[in-house]
Amino acid sequence: MAYNLLKGKRGIITGALNENSIAWKIAEKAHEEGATFVLTNAPVAMRMGEINSLAEKTGSQVIPADATSVEDLTNLFTQSQEILGGKVDFVLHSIGMSVNMRKNIPYTESNYDYFLKGIDISALSFHKMLSVARKLDAINEGGSVVALTYMAAQRTYPFYTDMADIKAMLESIARSFGYHYGLEKKVRINTVSQSPTKTTAGTGIKGFGDFFDYAQAISPLGNADAESCADYCITLFSDLTRMVTMQNLFHDGGYSSTGVSNEVMTKLGVE
Ligand SMILES: NC(=O)c1ccc[n+]([C@@H]2O[C@H](COP(=O)([O-])OP(=O)(O)OC[C@H]3O[C@@H](n4cnc5c(N)ncnc54)[C@H](O)[C@@H]3O)[C@@H](O)[C@H]2O)c1
Repeated sequence: MAYNLLKGKRGIITGALNENSIAWKIAEKAHEEGATFVLTNAPVAMRMGEINSLAEKTGSQVIPADATSVEDLTNLFTQSQEILGGKVDFVLHSIGMSVNMRKNIPYTESNYDYFLKGIDISALSFHKMLSVARKLDAINEGGSVVALTYMAAQRTYPFYTDMADIKAMLESIARSFGYHYGLEKKVRINTVSQSPTKTTAGTGIKGFGDFFDYAQAISPLGNADAESCADYCITLFSDLTRMVTMQNLFHDGGYSSTGVSNEVMTKLGVE
């Protein structure tokens, strides 16, 4: 059901790689809720061309941009304003990649070139995006920026390797930039801490299947899927959450507040 929550709003949506991507679902919902937006991804991620079907479905244009490049981001925000006919109201950062994780390198033996690459792509890109938007004055007053994160920023998950530290940085950038941008332009910046989700990035994590089942068994509501994450992000882009900023918001079916569940105790064989 659509509520027209984003009627008249313009946005930029990063990270829609394929139909499993969380950003893909967010784009579909944003379209249903009346928003117009530009889609963007790294040029290399567009080779398969899947994003074009999403663009067609949502009446959007696609602007390639490597989120680590200030030049690409400047072009993205400049062109988006031209295409959309004004400043944007919302921005989604849905970008994550760790070479250490991809190569199954244990956290204690992290390769530092890979580590720095992970920081640049998955955390610093958020700062760069916000900095470019601020310099160009590209976001309307009251606009909303959301980045996706994971709870490994607060608690240790060994298989999440260097991405745990990188997500902690991402969440910190949301707070730090949120202060400055909020004071100057009332722009809101939050992170959404999402359940394990079956996407390309998610399933690239070693042991993802078992962990997905474990989180499912802990969470009273079960794991939150990409569609429900999209719904939550839409509320954050809408004016209904106009006073929410600098927060890390858990969207995880209750996982983060549950110590242990009966289901897990039963699985362990405890009567
Ligand atoms: N899937 C999960 O379990 C889960 C859980 C919590 C948070 N998240 C976060 O959600 C976000 C989206 O991931 P997803 O699960 O939808 O997977 P996904 O693989 O569909 O999306 C990751 C996106 O990052 C893009 N990207 C990588 N390098 C880039 C660059 N240099 N410039 C621009 N874009 C680049 C990829 O092309 C891809 O579209 C990530 O930040 C991820 O960490 C995912």
